[in-house]
Amino acid sequence: MIEAYEKAGKIVSKVRNDAIKLIKDDLLILDLVEFAESEIQKLGAGIAFPCNVSVNEITAHYTSPANDETKILTGDLVKLDIGAHIDGYIADSAITIMAPGKNLEEKYDTDTINKYKELIESSDAGLEAAISTVRPGVEVGKIGAAVEEAINSYGFKPISNLAGHSLEQWNLHSGLSIPSINDKNTNKLKEGDAIAIEPFATDGVGWVIDTPHTYIFRYLKDKPFRMLHTQKILREIKANYADLPFSIRWLAKEFNVNRLNRSMRELSQASAIYPYPALKEKTDCWVSQSEHTVVVEGDGCTITTK
Ligand code: CO
Repeated sequence: MIEAYEKAGKIVSKVRNDAIKLIKDDLLILDLVEFAESEIQKLGAGIAFPCNVSVNEITAHYTSPANDETKILTGDLVKLDIGAHIDGYIADSAITIMAPGKNLEEKYDTDTINKYKELIESSDAGLEAAISTVRPGVEVGKIGAAVEEAINSYGFKPISNLAGHSLEQWNLHSGLSIPSINDKNTNKLKEGDAIAIEPFATDGVGWVIDTPHTYIFRYLKDKPFRMLHTQKILREIKANYADLPFSIRWLAKEFNVNRLNRSMRELSQASAIYPYPALKEKTDCWVSQSEHTVVVEGDGCTITTK
């Protein structure tokens, strides 16, 4: 089991490091997510969830829909969050960078550039502080407290309504939440737990809300539908993505996009699938994210996605 977690972690780490090098002015988000997803498969792992590329105030759960023309521009704060699995054992890791470009200094003044560099440092510091507290028996509220203190020390705020999560085989969010604030949660970690720790930091209010855009979903249950097309799509989803989240973009390879969108709405309304809308910071302030997967062991933990 630990071997599978570590193998998935090495693949995520390599793909993350390779993908980050591609980020530059004018890059299509679609090209970046497709690169990351295809590299994961080339290296022998499965995709644990659609590659998330969330830019500036968009905080999480953005992946390109089919034919997405959205581009990354110089100076954008790009959060790349990827997941791979080996036999259902998941590695989940994220990194944030400010997109480089020749015109960066024309676009943003030095103070602004430095502020966002520090924002990135603050979520990295939050992640590091969290990892240093991880050991069997630690209360998850204590991990949150360490994250909050580290991010606050930079003058920023953690996003308080987003949390890290425990992982189990074929289960991306298996019940235990790892907060980024001191929420006094007394649930304890135990030896062998795999958890994804993912602090988000912002210069805004530290709260995320749904956007109207949903491109990531998860299968929930079978239901009868009068529309044959909707039935067919649900069958396809269950056959291929019964456990882990999937992207509407993957289905658009086989189905007409307009009819697909209609059926996905119907499936969501009937709770046959669960929608993950893209999230944004409530006050439209920019957000940085840092994430590693760790396995709780001995008197600490092993970082699988280092
Ligand atoms: Co992640």
